[in-house]
Amino acid sequence: MTRRTDRHTAAEDQIPAPAPADDRGGFWAEQAARLHWDTPWTRVLDWSDAPFAKWFADGRLNVAYNCVDRHVEAGHGDQVAFHWEGEPGDTRNITYADLQREVSRTANALLSLGLATGDRVAIQLPMIPEAVFAMLACARLGLPHSVVFGGFSPAALQSRIEDAEAKLLITADGQYRRGQAVAMKDGTDEAVAHTPSIEHVLVVRRTGSAVAWTEGRDLWWHDLVDAQADTHTPEAFDAEHPLFILYTSGTTGKPKGILHTSGGYLTQAAYSHRAAFDHRAGQDVYWCTADIGWITGHSYIVYGPLANRATSVMYEGTPNTPHEGRHFEIIQKYGVSIYYTAPTLIRTFMKWGEDIPARYDLSSLRVLGSVGEPINPQAWLWYREHLGGNRTPVVDTWWQTETGAIMIAPLPGTGLAPKPGSAQTPLPGISAKVVDDQGVEVGKGESGYLVLDRPWPAMLRGVWGDTERYRETYWSRFAQQGYYFAGDGARYDEDGDIWLLGRVDDVMNVSGHRISTAEVESALVSHPSVAEAAVVGATDATTGQAIVAFVILRGSAADGSAEAADTITALRNHVAQEIGPIAKPRQVMVVPELPKTRSGKIMRRLLRDVAEQREIGDVTTLADASVMSLINNGLGGPA
Ligand code: WT7
Repeated sequence: MTRRTDRHTAAEDQIPAPAPADDRGGFWAEQAARLHWDTPWTRVLDWSDAPFAKWFADGRLNVAYNCVDRHVEAGHGDQVAFHWEGEPGDTRNITYADLQREVSRTANALLSLGLATGDRVAIQLPMIPEAVFAMLACARLGLPHSVVFGGFSPAALQSRIEDAEAKLLITADGQYRRGQAVAMKDGTDEAVAHTPSIEHVLVVRRTGSAVAWTEGRDLWWHDLVDAQADTHTPEAFDAEHPLFILYTSGTTGKPKGILHTSGGYLTQAAYSHRAAFDHRAGQDVYWCTADIGWITGHSYIVYGPLANRATSVMYEGTPNTPHEGRHFEIIQKYGVSIYYTAPTLIRTFMKWGEDIPARYDLSSLRVLGSVGEPINPQAWLWYREHLGGNRTPVVDTWWQTETGAIMIAPLPGTGLAPKPGSAQTPLPGISAKVVDDQGVEVGKGESGYLVLDRPWPAMLRGVWGDTERYRETYWSRFAQQGYYFAGDGARYDEDGDIWLLGRVDDVMNVSGHRISTAEVESALVSHPSVAEAAVVGATDATTGQAIVAFVILRGSAADGSAEAADTITALRNHVAQEIGPIAKPRQVMVVPELPKTRSGKIMRRLLRDVAEQREIGDVTTLADASVMSLINNGLGGPA
């Protein structure tokens, strides 16, 4: 990737201040006022240093207090915060009073390790209650957390710890996956062997598997945390105090640390959770099936629902362990009324068959949500029929790690005519547009790029340690207009409703997980057998997109066809090991050449044609037009 310095400078100069009079300020002031502020703010938004926003900047609050203590103080200590279901069938019901004690103990433990406000804490944990305790304890102490998805490799964890210079890692001995106890600490040990910033590793015992132990560095959670006092007085922090860093894939090989802060983030996470799902505290049982390692888990398992005093289900395992009805069984058991999941899981349910949900009583469901990728109308209709009994709204929610909270969604109960497959309209207080290459809004029935033309409270405040990358990635494309470039294509229909069309950059979306082509390519070329690699996201019936890699092998690997099958297996596993199983290519195709333009840029469009078994598109800009037939012949396709 080449850096466009000229553009970047332009971005700095040209981002204009927003139009001053805008009722959005009043709207967000009302939403923020639903939180508890130790020091009330006087100014809603300061955009004078755009694109660096300050929301409620002179206000002070404690995020954990807002998510836990204030509900206990208001007399709701006995209300369940989490019905937790372990994969092997163990369960735990955690009330708000329990949560207050657990979070206080955890906070006291972190203090005993000498951590001070602003220090970063890395967390790699399974979906167990301690993950929530850990996040909230960090929030309570003003320690920005960096949660790393449990499926990420040691190398991925290591680079995230290094980038944030985390002092503490919180992890577990192991985790349950598909009925098996799988090691976790082995991997985290490998990661922290190379991260001098880590002073301690706090280990939750989950599976009871044997682990290696480094005296002085490693501490058992049950030794340290359980011995602490269960009260802790929270202190208030500035509204703009960093709350967390969450890494996400961009168009280059290096993931970006997306930075979120406190007051604006919590305001919008709470508001959007209440509005998008019509959530009613004390009545609903809410279940978001995401993992806390993703932004969906941060905003819609932890911060939004807890700020709204939700009763949530939290489930540790996979949806087909021990059987394919597990989710429906859990919905029935707890009377789940709001269920929020991803299209990839809905399509998996479709594959397993409608007779499975039919065996359970799902009549408690009243709102269904979808997130992560465009939901195809077929999946939308199936979801509403077979889970929702054709009674429930299906709320398709568009947002990103960077937006922090839901931005575009048809709010239930607002009388919007449902449109299967469309996220439809920005939430109150949010503004989005579809524009052409020049930044001019397109007309009804037309497609273009999705932009956010006004700042919003939960917006990212930057990329950790890389101001330039923040400006360049999000604000340089439409610098003149001062629009945030989301990286998604979108279309207005004849009513002016928004339909999301998928990424317009080199970012793939596999089962709702964002993976960059560059990341997978660099994993592939790090293998000794690979000379060159190009990766594309090809349409896949279940996962939305699947990773298809084209590789040129080197030396002996290139000519030994007997070993080709072994090499392909080895390469798929190598990628899984380098990044994590979610990045394992569905297919690796060995090719003699890659299609390139005269300037040497790989034409992924043509490779996508091959991967999706379509007729090859326009090849006139290729440096060597015969390359495509060479590739196709080699793969046994039409010349
Ligand atoms: C990208 C963001 C937001 C939490 C999960 C993913 C795609 C997300 C939708 C949707 C169409 C969607 C976009 C977006 N996306 N939700 N409802 N309809 N596309 O967060 O990993 O930051 O990925 O996911 O392409 O840019 P993320």
